[in-house]
Amino acid sequence: MKKYDEKYIKRCFELAAKGAGYVSPNPLVGCVIVKEGKIVSEGWHAKFGGPHAEADAIAGAAESLEGAELYCNLEPCSHTNKKTPPCAPAIIESKIKRVVISNIDPNPFVSGNGIELLRKNGIEVETGILEEEGNYLNRFFFKYIKTGLPYVTLKIAQSADGMITAEEGKQTWLTGSESAQFVHRQRALYDAVLVGANTVNIDDPQLNVRLAEGRNPKRIIIDGALSSNPGSKVFNDENRENTILFTSYSADNAKVQLLHDKGVSIIRCEVNPEGKISFMEILKKLGEEKIASVFVEGGAQIFTQFIKENLFDELILLQSPLVLGRGVKALNAEFPSKLKKIEENMLGKDKKCVYFNPFQSRN
Ligand SMILES: NC(=O)c1ccc[n+]([C@@H]2O[C@H](COP(=O)([O-])OP(=O)(O)OC[C@H]3O[C@@H](n4cnc5c(N)ncnc54)[C@H](OP(=O)(O)O)[C@@H]3O)[C@@H](O)[C@H]2O)c1
Repeated sequence: MKKYDEKYIKRCFELAAKGAGYVSPNPLVGCVIVKEGKIVSEGWHAKFGGPHAEADAIAGAAESLEGAELYCNLEPCSHTNKKTPPCAPAIIESKIKRVVISNIDPNPFVSGNGIELLRKNGIEVETGILEEEGNYLNRFFFKYIKTGLPYVTLKIAQSADGMITAEEGKQTWLTGSESAQFVHRQRALYDAVLVGANTVNIDDPQLNVRLAEGRNPKRIIIDGALSSNPGSKVFNDENRENTILFTSYSADNAKVQLLHDKGVSIIRCEVNPEGKISFMEILKKLGEEKIASVFVEGGAQIFTQFIKENLFDELILLQSPLVLGRGVKALNAEFPSKLKKIEENMLGKDKKCVYFNPFQSRN
């Protein structure tokens, strides 16, 4: 490893992050090309189907790249069964002499093959630079490509005494404007936001991105008995064709047709004797829809099932200083004990804690 390798890989992370929200289910990738100690070109994967970071950087170079070093946070691809031409041959052709990578691509079509092709052609390849940071940056992609399931983050806003609302059947606004802006920034990064039918009926949320820059996520509604009010915003606003509703085969056909006619996608599933769809089944179906990340926003029943079934990867707790003294508890389960806290800070008056779940269930 050379002493400046980490500096340029960090720059790759910054460039890669520009594609967040736009490249899924592809990975976030940034690329820096250095010649004689100076950056001569940069690139990143900006949108799904668009040029890869390495191709973008090579195409943007104003001078010959012979003898240059290429930095990239993910192994350059070598396979041809995709929308854009492979990057490893383009690197070889441009006579770059050294390639420095953070993560090996777990995609079975690439994994190790890109590196092997570069080495076979006499290029020096170094891997594993800031590997953990690279894993974090691409945590959605890595889970999705390895399991076919989306990365699941639970976002729970609760009072200081663990309630999500002061009164059953009513909405209580618990957190402040800084938390609301944070939530909108997160929505712009995830492929989809997910809520239960009661949250649709009680809160009538829009689940879009209004308080931050970015595109709107898809909206997933879980509603076994199809009790959602068809007049709700998620079924009627200009974003309604981005709403996907999971319901049972026994749901009222006329109501299914009504929502379908509005442009809502309906996915019907088997239910258990309590009328519940398996959450693993839902995640598998979302994976098939190429949804690689899901931001779960409630309510209590939904959070409780994800936690009891251990089907989440990350949990963000937004704790308001308000003490309600009564109401509906955020979780009808023990707070999971084996989580790893990775962040704790304040958003205005609310405390934000982020936890990783290293032991989530895969089946
Ligand atoms: N503070 C927060 O973070 C937060 C976030 C969101 C909401 N809230 C509050 O939470 C309250 C709503 O929470 P909640 O626990 O009553 O309801 P919820 O979790 O929003 O929705 C529960 C409903 O979702 C459907 N559902 C859940 N799991 C299912 C499964 N496995 N299969 C099929 N359908 C399933 C069922 O609908 P069907 O009965 O139609 O089958 C169930 O009645 C509201 O007061 C809202 O304001 C708070």
